[in-house]
Amino acid sequence: MRRIKIAEVLKSQEVDSVVNVKGWVRTRRGSKGVAFIQLNDGSTINDIQIVVDLEKLGEDCVKFAHTGACLSIIGKLIASKGTGQSVEIQADSVETLGGADPEKYPMQPKAHSMEFLRENAHFRPRTKTFSTVLRLRHAMAFAIHKFFHEKGFYYLHTPIITGSDAEGAGEMFRVSTLDAKNPPLTPTGEVDFSQDFFGRQTNLTVSGQLEGEIGAMAMGDIYTFGPTFRAENSNTARHLAEFWMIEPEMAFYELEDNMELAQEFIQYVIRFALANYMDDLTFLDEKLTKEESQKKAEERSDMSLIEKLNFVVGNDFKRITYTEAIDILLSSNHYKKGKFQYNVKWGIDLQSEHERYLVEKHFKQPVILYNYPKNIKSFYMKQNENEEVGKETVRAMDVLFPGIGEMIGGSQREESYEKLLKVITDKKMPLESLWWYLDLRKFGTAPHAGFGLGFERLMMFITGMGNIRDVIPFPRTPKNAEF
Ligand code: 4AD
Ligand code: MG
Repeated sequence: MRRIKIAEVLKSQEVDSVVNVKGWVRTRRGSKGVAFIQLNDGSTINDIQIVVDLEKLGEDCVKFAHTGACLSIIGKLIASKGTGQSVEIQADSVETLGGADPEKYPMQPKAHSMEFLRENAHFRPRTKTFSTVLRLRHAMAFAIHKFFHEKGFYYLHTPIITGSDAEGAGEMFRVSTLDAKNPPLTPTGEVDFSQDFFGRQTNLTVSGQLEGEIGAMAMGDIYTFGPTFRAENSNTARHLAEFWMIEPEMAFYELEDNMELAQEFIQYVIRFALANYMDDLTFLDEKLTKEESQKKAEERSDMSLIEKLNFVVGNDFKRITYTEAIDILLSSNHYKKGKFQYNVKWGIDLQSEHERYLVEKHFKQPVILYNYPKNIKSFYMKQNENEEVGKETVRAMDVLFPGIGEMIGGSQREESYEKLLKVITDKKMPLESLWWYLDLRKFGTAPHAGFGLGFERLMMFITGMGNIRDVIPFPRTPKNAEF
């Protein structure tokens, strides 16, 4: 008999049909002579209830059918007499494919802490919360490809191993096959990477942007969507050492076009989730509402998850310059009362407390900050013209979200060869690994722009999960690469 997925069974609701479902036991309870088993196979948030007549089938058939066990059930779909489900399966046979010893199985049918679940990441997709997050993660990845495809962007596969430091921040994982204990040395005593696998120093990519620009300067509009690696030692709820980034890069776009695209993109994928994954969103919405109700009144969020998603879909993001943001911060009561830990003045790299103040307290909505000071931003960003000495800015933009902080970082790119060469030289960046990047400005240069969206930050917003480790199946963070 062909196995069918529980999602399909619940959708078809063909009462009296005989079906074979396979899945894992969430819970089991019993009353005289009957066992009720909630079975889930990951195809939907909803379980199907299996009713086992123990007098007919014998007590032994459910001997190993505890929480976590994998069962194959054949039975008739019937209208449910109980509340909470419209159909259930009256079992004709119960086969245990794999038992789960209730004394030893770590996942008990009760609420577990997020920390506990992280330590048991091999079983956490079996929980309602994580299977929901994973289904939504799939949905968002799909919606992202759909969005770009519909807009005529090409998916460009940029390399994971590269010789360049795209962000110029030096937070890279080295890729090497040299003997760590006994590496070859140059006459001056440095490690001789010319003898390494690639004949040069290489690292895991921190961004596909630079190669993305190669694509845009030939194909027009491209995007990358791949794993990205940063060896920054920040153990926060918003940082991963391995995360996924979506980076569109567009020829002939200026900063304003870039902002338009960023907003349209985020709204599109959220709308996709609202239109197609309401079961999962409703589950998370209810879970979060319950958690919120346990907080103190002043810490409670005034919108539910679904309300927040609808708000973002229905409202333009606020756009302000960095200079305006600094003015808002300086004239806030928060600042005047000395409540910021870090000082505020023009030229600082905004700290997350400043960003949070702007989006959560002042504007209470997503904000696009643009035109940042040149000195705090990456070398490739387009310089604004005719500015006061010491107040030079670049055409950068960050999209900030309530509860998340920076969701997107992007910019218009410097297309002038002379200007870019000067920045690279001033910053003492290695010309030998950037020659091809400069060549793009030498031959057929054009205005262009792009941005990077952190996929897990987007997932945090969509699911309402508070820790980035809980929106990726296998988080990589300092001192943690177990699964
Ligand atoms: O602002 P970032 O560093 O920008 C770039 O890498 C550009 N090259 C993008 C571009 O213009 N093509 O990173 C972009 C986004 C951030 O806004 C954030 O959402 C995410 O990537 N991000 C991280 N997400 C999780 N963990 C980390 N350690 C992250 N670092 C950046
Ligand atoms: Mg950034």
